[in-house]
Amino acid sequence: MSIQLETKHLTGFVSQEQISALKAEMEKACHEFDAGTCQGNDFIGWRTLPTDYDKEEFARIKAAAGKIRANSQVLVVIGIGGSYLGARAAIEFLGSQYYNNFADLQVYFVGNSICPEELSKVLKLCEGKDVSVNIISKSGTTTEPAIAFRVFKEYMENRYGKEEASKRIYATTDKARGTLKELSTLEGYETFVVPDDVGGRYSVLTAVGLLPIAAAGFDIDALMAGAQAGQKAFDNDEMNPCNLYAVIRNVLYRMGKKTELYTCYDPAFTMFNEWLKQLYGESEGKDGKGIFPASVIFSTDLHSMGQYIQDGERTLFETVLAFGGAREDVTVKAEEANFDGLNYLAGKTMSEINRTAMEATIMAHKDGGVPCMVIEVGKMDEYHLGELVYFFEHACAISGAMLGVNPFNQPGVEAYKKNMFKLLGKPGY
Ligand code: PA5
Repeated sequence: MSIQLETKHLTGFVSQEQISALKAEMEKACHEFDAGTCQGNDFIGWRTLPTDYDKEEFARIKAAAGKIRANSQVLVVIGIGGSYLGARAAIEFLGSQYYNNFADLQVYFVGNSICPEELSKVLKLCEGKDVSVNIISKSGTTTEPAIAFRVFKEYMENRYGKEEASKRIYATTDKARGTLKELSTLEGYETFVVPDDVGGRYSVLTAVGLLPIAAAGFDIDALMAGAQAGQKAFDNDEMNPCNLYAVIRNVLYRMGKKTELYTCYDPAFTMFNEWLKQLYGESEGKDGKGIFPASVIFSTDLHSMGQYIQDGERTLFETVLAFGGAREDVTVKAEEANFDGLNYLAGKTMSEINRTAMEATIMAHKDGGVPCMVIEVGKMDEYHLGELVYFFEHACAISGAMLGVNPFNQPGVEAYKKNMFKLLGKPGY
């Protein structure tokens, strides 16, 4: 296990007694998962995915990724929510926000909004390049990706003809049901499965995440190996770092700390923050309960959100993600003139300065009344990403169960859809 939870900055906010008082609740949640008697027990397939996955499909994912990399310069990934965020979070985590500028294969994500300009811009980016498409939708009926897929299906067929287009379109959907599965069978698309017992926001370690991640050139064997390490370390009823994190969140929530701020000092984490916000927001925010997940990238957002965090309403707690071993580093050089007065930093690396900024900020926020946990992870690579994904999925499930909600449904998401369908005149609404 390489993930550690640093709790020393909770001193003065959370006591050992408060943590111990919730231990039995955490253990009960773990036992209910083991026994399959938890709420939402038909959606707990993610727990064993790192060890118990379809090996034949995994090999097909790698083969399809290789084919896409060999015959395309662009992969358009169509999906929304859990059928989008995990893959994008992983690709940016591993390759930075500028991954497309350094990659042989550009990966663009569409169908995650209804914005026509976004879609049109990506169509333009496809011009003059060979394209493959991965449509991802468990239900096969979600409006946003369905609109985008109509456009891209027509684009691909006009460009390549129906037969070649069907070889360049990959569908990730339910194994047997739904319109996308039916269409794929009809058109002859290669299909990958979103398992029945894995919900969208827990699906990054299935083909939903794995195909785009592998196509982007990242090592999905190492990703799964990290997830396996996570399963081994965290899927038990001990006060391991993952279960401790779930317990502390609940202690803080019951003290009135209702907003959790995910904080990282690396912009490559921006989309992982978005994945976390969906995972925790959709899993816990129901029945009038739930910690509101928010996120910042520091030091960037210290110049925008810093004032509120330091001094605004005291309902926040902070969860900092800290990574070791910078992938690339820059050393500040000495300058004779020293006009900017920076010579005191000469010889220091930016990663050292960034780490000091983190320590200084945590101290300031603690003084300002914001309790803070630090999740220490090894490097930002595939292995540690896999372990981190498992850490957060498991903690979310336990935390949601302790909160008394079903962490695997999302009934509230239907409300806007019903209104939108009615206003748009969809039959039956
Ligand atoms: O987590 C979830 O279940 C949702 O965010 C879904 O992933 C999202 O609504 C997309 O659904 P689908 O994959 O059915 O198109």
